[in-house]
Amino acid sequence: MCGIVGCVLKNDKVAPILLDSISKLEYRGYDSVGLATAFDGKINLKKDEGQIKKVDDKLNLADMPGNYGIAHVRWATHGDPSRENSHPHLNSSCTIAVVHNGIIENYLAIKEDLQAEGYEFKSGTDTEVIPHLLDKFIGEGLDLEKAVRKVIGVIEGAYAIAAICVDEPNKVVATRKDSPLIVGIGEDEYFVASDSPAILKYTNNIAYLEEGEIVILTEDGVTFKDANDKVMKKDIDVLDWSPEMAEKEGYDHFMIKEINEQDAAIRNTLGEKDKIKDIVDEVKETINRVVFVACGTSYHASLTGKYLIESLVGIPTEVLLASEFKYSAKALNDQTLVIFISQSGETADTLKALDAANETSKTLAIVNVRGSSATRKADYVIQTQAGPEIGVAATKTYVSQLIAIYLFSALLADDADLLKRLEKVPDYIDEVLKKQGIIREISNNYKRDKDAFFIGRGFSYPIALEGALKLKEISYIHAEGYAAGELKHGPIALIDKNIPVVVVVPPGQDHNKIMSNLQEVKARGADVLGIGAIGDKDLIKESDNVFLINSEVDDILAPLVYIVPLQLLSYHVSVLRELDPDKPKNLAKCVTVE
Ligand code: F6R
Repeated sequence: MCGIVGCVLKNDKVAPILLDSISKLEYRGYDSVGLATAFDGKINLKKDEGQIKKVDDKLNLADMPGNYGIAHVRWATHGDPSRENSHPHLNSSCTIAVVHNGIIENYLAIKEDLQAEGYEFKSGTDTEVIPHLLDKFIGEGLDLEKAVRKVIGVIEGAYAIAAICVDEPNKVVATRKDSPLIVGIGEDEYFVASDSPAILKYTNNIAYLEEGEIVILTEDGVTFKDANDKVMKKDIDVLDWSPEMAEKEGYDHFMIKEINEQDAAIRNTLGEKDKIKDIVDEVKETINRVVFVACGTSYHASLTGKYLIESLVGIPTEVLLASEFKYSAKALNDQTLVIFISQSGETADTLKALDAANETSKTLAIVNVRGSSATRKADYVIQTQAGPEIGVAATKTYVSQLIAIYLFSALLADDADLLKRLEKVPDYIDEVLKKQGIIREISNNYKRDKDAFFIGRGFSYPIALEGALKLKEISYIHAEGYAAGELKHGPIALIDKNIPVVVVVPPGQDHNKIMSNLQEVKARGADVLGIGAIGDKDLIKESDNVFLINSEVDDILAPLVYIVPLQLLSYHVSVLRELDPDKPKNLAKCVTVE
C-alpha cells in the first residue's frame, strides 16, 4: 500500500536507480508514481497518475540531475489518483520534498492550523501536511533531521517517511511508525525502502528501523538515531535473496513465475522443521486452545490449520479475521496460543491484533518477509522460505504458509507418518505444474463467465474459498467458495446452465458426499470442472472438464496440491481476458491501513 524509496549515491546520478528501485515496489501501489531529486539548490520533480511504464514514457523519469532523491508509488487512500495527489509532495517554496506510506490520522486538524498560518495546499492528501510542517520547523531554525523529529511529535497514524531539502545537500532523512521501512547499506550507495526487492540489486545488507528511530543517509554512510536522539548501532541482516528473485526471468508475469516456484518454496520451508520443533516443544505443555488470526489468503491457510489441529491433536482451534479480532480478544488467556499468518508481516489489521494478543497470550507469527513488523512483535516466529513474492495475488507464499502449518500441526501431534508424507508434496506439485497446459486449455471455457462457484468439504472447503478468491481478484469474475454441503441451504438457487461450478474432490472420507453435491449442481445444469485424483472414474464421467492429480494426495494433503490448478485457472482466465494478473485493480500487495 504505497511504496517509498530514498537514496544517496556517492558519485552517480540517482534518478535511474530510484526509478529501478521503485519499479520493484510497484506491487505496493500503481495509481501513480513520482520521483524527486535535488541538484544545484533546486528540487527536480516528475510525477503523475498511472502505472510506472505509462508515466515514464511520458516524463522520462530517469532523466533528472542530482545524486540524492526520493521516489514513491501510490495506492490512493486520501484523494483520488491524480498528478496533484501523487508523491513526492513539496513545500510552497519547493525546497523540501517528502514521500510517505501510511495514513496521517490527524491531518485535517494540522492542515487547518497550517492554512490559518498562510500555508497553501495543492493536493487532497494527508501527506502534504508533512512538507509544510518541515518548512515551518526549518523556518524556526531547525535542521532537516531535527524538523523530522519534531514532525513525528505532531502527526498521528501510520507512516514511513523520507525527506530531502535543497539546503542540506546529499542527505535523505527517514523515519517510520506502523509502516515498514528498511535501510540498505551498500558500498557507495545508501537506501531506505518499504521492502527489500527495491534494493536487492544494490546491496544485501539491511537494517530494520524501529518506531521513533530516525535514519540519516549521506554520501559518507548511514547514521541511526534512537527515539531519544542518541546515535545508535544497528544489527545488519545479510539477506540471502538474490536480485533475480525479484525479476520475471522470462515469464510473462510474476504470478505465473511464482506459481511455478511453489515446489521449491515448499522444499525450502520444509527445511524449517527443526526450528518449528523447538517452538512446538516450548509451547505444547502450556496451551489448551489455539486461535489463528489473518486476512485474505492467509485466512484461508488458517482455516486449514483449524482442520489440522482439531483433527490431529484435538485442541479447540478457532480462526478469526484480523479486522474482527478485537471483538473476541477478551476471551483469550495465557493458555491460548494465538497464531498470526501473514505473507508480508505488515498487514495493519493483523499487527493491531498481534499487539492486543501479546497482552494476554503467547503469540506465534508465520511470516514470509524477514524482519517485518510481525516478526519483531510475536513471541515465536516461523519464517516461510518462499523468497520475494511480487505478484499481488498470493500463491507461493500461501503454500509455504500451509506447509509451515502442516509441520507445526504434525509435530504437535507427533505424527511421524504425516511428517514423512509432507516430504513428497514438492513432487506432487511438480507433477501438477508439468501438466499446466491442460488448465490453460480448460481456461478458455471460463473466460467469458460472469459468475462461478467453487465447492469442497472438510479440508477441501478452504481450497474452494481460496480458488474463488484467486479467480475474483485477478479476473474480476464474481466467484463464491462454498462448503459443498451448505450449497442447498440457499445458494443453489443461483445455479443454472450459465454457472460453472468447480468441485474439489480428493480421495478420502468425504469423496462420495462431495460427489453427491456434484450431482446436485449438475442436475441444475451447471458446467462442472472436477479437480480430483487420477483414476477417479466417477468424477471423470460426471464432470464436463477434469484436472487429475496423483492419487496419493488424499483429502488431508489436498490443500497443498489441489490449490495449484485453481491458481493456474485464475491466472489463465485473467490473461485471456487481457487483464494484468500481477496488478489487479484496486488492490495492493501489502495492506498497511486498517
Ligand atoms: C490475495 C492476497 C490477500 C492477502 C491479504 C493478507 O491473493 O494476497 O488476500 O492474503 O491481504 O496479506 P498478508 O498475508 O501479507 O497479511
